[in-house]
Amino acid sequence: MNAVPHDVRPVSGTAGAPSPGDRFWRRLGGVAFGGDYNPEQWPAETRAEDLRLMAEARVNLVTVGVFGWARVEPARGAYDFSLFDQVLDDLHAHGITADLATMTASPPPWLVHEHPEILPVTADGTVLGPGGRQHFCPSSPVYRERAALLVERLATHYRDHPALGLWHVGNEYGCHIAACYCEVSAADFRRWLRERYGDDLAALNDAWSTDFWSQRYASFDHIQPPRAAPTYPNPAQQLDYTRFANETLRDCFDLEAGILRRVTPEVPITTNFLGGLKAVDVFDWAPRLDVVAVDSYPDPHDQRPHLAPGLVYDTMRGAGGGQPWILMEQAPSAVNWRGRNAIKQPGQMRLWSWQAVAQGADAILYFQWRQSRGGAEKFHSGMVPHAGADSRVFREITALGRELAAVPDLPGTRVSNQVAILLDWNSWWALELDSHPSDGVRQEERLLDHYGPLFDLGVGVDVVPPSAELTGYALVVVPNLYLLSSEDARRVSSYVAGGGALAVSFFSGIVDEHDRVHLGGYPAPLREVLGVRVEEFCPAAEHERFPVRGHGVLSHLEGVADLWREDLHLAGAEPEVVFDSADWAGRPAVTRHEFGAGIARYLSTRLDAVTMRAVLGRALAEAGATPVVEGLPAGVQASVRAGAGRRFLILLNHTGDKHDIALSGAWTDALDPSDEGVATVTLPPSGVAVLRAGD
Ligand code: GAL
Repeated sequence: MNAVPHDVRPVSGTAGAPSPGDRFWRRLGGVAFGGDYNPEQWPAETRAEDLRLMAEARVNLVTVGVFGWARVEPARGAYDFSLFDQVLDDLHAHGITADLATMTASPPPWLVHEHPEILPVTADGTVLGPGGRQHFCPSSPVYRERAALLVERLATHYRDHPALGLWHVGNEYGCHIAACYCEVSAADFRRWLRERYGDDLAALNDAWSTDFWSQRYASFDHIQPPRAAPTYPNPAQQLDYTRFANETLRDCFDLEAGILRRVTPEVPITTNFLGGLKAVDVFDWAPRLDVVAVDSYPDPHDQRPHLAPGLVYDTMRGAGGGQPWILMEQAPSAVNWRGRNAIKQPGQMRLWSWQAVAQGADAILYFQWRQSRGGAEKFHSGMVPHAGADSRVFREITALGRELAAVPDLPGTRVSNQVAILLDWNSWWALELDSHPSDGVRQEERLLDHYGPLFDLGVGVDVVPPSAELTGYALVVVPNLYLLSSEDARRVSSYVAGGGALAVSFFSGIVDEHDRVHLGGYPAPLREVLGVRVEEFCPAAEHERFPVRGHGVLSHLEGVADLWREDLHLAGAEPEVVFDSADWAGRPAVTRHEFGAGIARYLSTRLDAVTMRAVLGRALAEAGATPVVEGLPAGVQASVRAGAGRRFLILLNHTGDKHDIALSGAWTDALDPSDEGVATVTLPPSGVAVLRAGD
């Protein structure tokens, strides 16, 4: 069942030959622009207008066939590629590259009819029906076999098609079905466990702490998925199931990617991650892709809608080792799947697209080209909306296409940052298991509690896993890294000993990879580097707030904390912020510890955003890290993309106010080269400036 090829790592360029990923970017010759193109939803005549409008919008890359399975294989083995043949021919004739999907994201009705056992089952035993999409069990041998046959046929059929520039494997793996709990999955889980624990049941019993609640296993055959249970299922079992589910989806990807690499070794491969998705470990998957791609759907109703996507973009760049990435999907305006679906206000789509470029994207695409007439997503905006091309949305699309075409030499430049945030999917999964001291400690929220203040301080951030090389960073920020192996803790500690600056937040370094507590006082593997010892967690009630005040250099500071406190003892560290309430007066909230040649801070509570900014600002200053541009107004983002003798400064106004930004150095307006020698940039609300250094 799991004959999955493992040699699917990207073919990197040998002896100076470009890798498939490099070839993809070269072929596009500039920032790529386009979207999901679903001509199967429309009569053939519409295509002529599509191609005309694509030229008008300067579209050069489209994703084709994501939901094409029922069209190309209308009955078992009866393949019919005629529609997509015509589409790819037309695209090529118009100079548009195809990101061709493997079409496996939504099994056709005949397959479900013949094999209802491929349907996924939830933890409470509900069999999920067809009629939506992604209705397959990732472990299903039937699904895998039919998917593999389709991909083989597709790859063989299109291997020499000149429009084919990129393979788009599946679609948003794990977006609807993160894990399946059917009997086939259960058997597959047992196989996975045997491999993981080397067929050693004692090792599994030990790792899962099964002597608790009489769960000791006498045979691998007795193990079940963590289905709905009378109370909390075993946390280590849950954690392993989440790992298994991630790897099972990854096996589905590998199965298809392996076929594609064999049949079309020159064609690069991607899959579109869903930004902020917990189920799929992007750091684990990314090395298997030639190009990292992500879908991003900020909610315009949010207070600061650019922050969560910003975090996602920095994660994608981190996952790809700094390489350019594709914004594979964003909404041209509204989505249809929230309760209240806000439109993107005039200028917002442009602003957020340039934000992706500022953070390292070399391709800006949308879901989808033409807004559907029927089906579940007919009220999701399209690049060509129901109103047609004579519309605000299409005009903004066309204007952005023109702008991106004006900077053909922007690709090839890179973003580089002095600050890293550590994120680890294993830790995320373990952090959000049940029966913890507080259910208020959620990974994304906690990441944003750190990311937001850093954003406001004007520094760029790379989001990387704890295994990344840290030595080049001035400051490493660790938001609630609950699960931390002793080995990673040692690496982080030696980074500090070697002169690095570290800021660690509470409930980090608590458990090992089996969700077993590191003993001797929290956070055991980081105690030495942080110079603290925690005896007890004291989570707060929802309404509780605790005044805090700065100490020493930060003595001007007065703020508020909430969510969490702890019985913290200094073991070498000095307090930098202390609690100021009657019951906890003077007890340390934030500490600073000189360790080797570096400095390690510990934040034992959640600080309000202003206090957090002050603490992180102090850490940055001590580390010698500087903002991208000094003195920018809050809410104005700056990013430098540099390399190959070129340097661009991108300024983005995320505020509702106009700002005049005085520039130092020689810049020209990259979007309007006649405007030479720009000294001051005026940014209206949602305004964007793209400046080129030097000429
Ligand atoms: C994505 C998906 C697309 C489309 C889009 C709508 O999650 O990949 O197919 O459904 O959402 O926002």
